Amino acid sequence: MVNIPGRPRIIPIASGKGGVGKSIFAASLAINLARRGESTVAVDLDLGGSNLHTYLGMPNTNPGVGDFLKQRLTDLPSLVVPTPVDNLGFLPGDGKTPFMANISTRQRLHLLDELLRLKARYIIVDLGAGSAINTMNLFGLALDGIVITTLDTPALMNALVFLRNFTFANILSLASERAPTRKMLLNAYRRSADGANLTAEEIYDLLAAHDPLLARQIRQRLERFTPRFVYNMADQPEDLRVAGRIQDTLKKNLSMNSSPLGLLFYDSAVRKSVRQNKVFLREQPDTPYARGLRAITDRLLKSAAQSPSLETLISEARRHA
Ligand SMILES: Nc1ncnc2c1ncn2[C@@H]1O[C@H](COP(=O)(O)OP(=O)(O)OP(=O)(O)O)[C@@H](O)[C@H]1O
Ligand SMILES: [Mg+2]
Repeated sequence: MVNIPGRPRIIPIASGKGGVGKSIFAASLAINLARRGESTVAVDLDLGGSNLHTYLGMPNTNPGVGDFLKQRLTDLPSLVVPTPVDNLGFLPGDGKTPFMANISTRQRLHLLDELLRLKARYIIVDLGAGSAINTMNLFGLALDGIVITTLDTPALMNALVFLRNFTFANILSLASERAPTRKMLLNAYRRSADGANLTAEEIYDLLAAHDPLLARQIRQRLERFTPRFVYNMADQPEDLRVAGRIQDTLKKNLSMNSSPLGLLFYDSAVRKSVRQNKVFLREQPDTPYARGLRAITDRLLKSAAQSPSLETLISEARRHA
């Protein structure tokens, strides 16, 4: 689903924990991409907690995904509204019609189809915090979605838990045609939730004992997911060293390859603009957050490039401080 010519490139942005800076990052990244001349749509899919409009300086008056899902409207692309930034459209969430946190599987599939019809080069998707089924499915819209976290232990732990839930939910759904396999997996997963800490590798082994071909197919599908991490509200460039440990943990526990996409400093200019209800990037500020974001935008635009080493990212962050 990535980089198919003519299809938009979808960039879902998730976090395990709430309040880590997901929405302002989504809004600012979308603004930066649009300013680079890339047609972009920022989509608010934090259903139940939609507030992306505030970070884009938009009113909360336009119908959005909430109205679409309530079947009052049928054509999702027609709900994209222009923003004050050239090349940037906005698709509202359910700010106007709240309490849409739970949607049915049928609705979700319909929503995914309609998202792929959006006319843009980049679609930036702000997701809800946590591991709701909706969120995990929407994160799976791309193979290399972004996970944003602060450097606090609870936020890092929740980011890992999100990817663990994402992996196991995918294994379960891919194995779901076979009832006995599904039951066996559910039992194993429950045991691991009790603290036995089952790895994805152990789950593939369990699966292989029942159905080796299916086990291989599922592993191949899941190995294609390579999430990228943004570390937010950092104090110093060296904070990025935690990225190495995160990568190792994901490899060991989930057999998952991940990479750091960049580091964003704690920046009082961000907080100030939010308090004053201003769009952070309205002018082109030269602050630590804006510099970090520019580097992340550059990296996304060069998608074919290899992910940079940790040392490269740390020295880059030194220049942004
Ligand atoms: N790098 C930063 N420096 C300073 N403040 C920041 C930074 N990043 C985010 N913030 C502040 O953190 C607060 C939460 O940000 P935001 O709403 O984007 O988080 P979120 O992850 O989307 O939250 P939620 O889970 O509620 O959707 C905002 O007030 C924002 O100004
Ligand atoms: Mg948010």
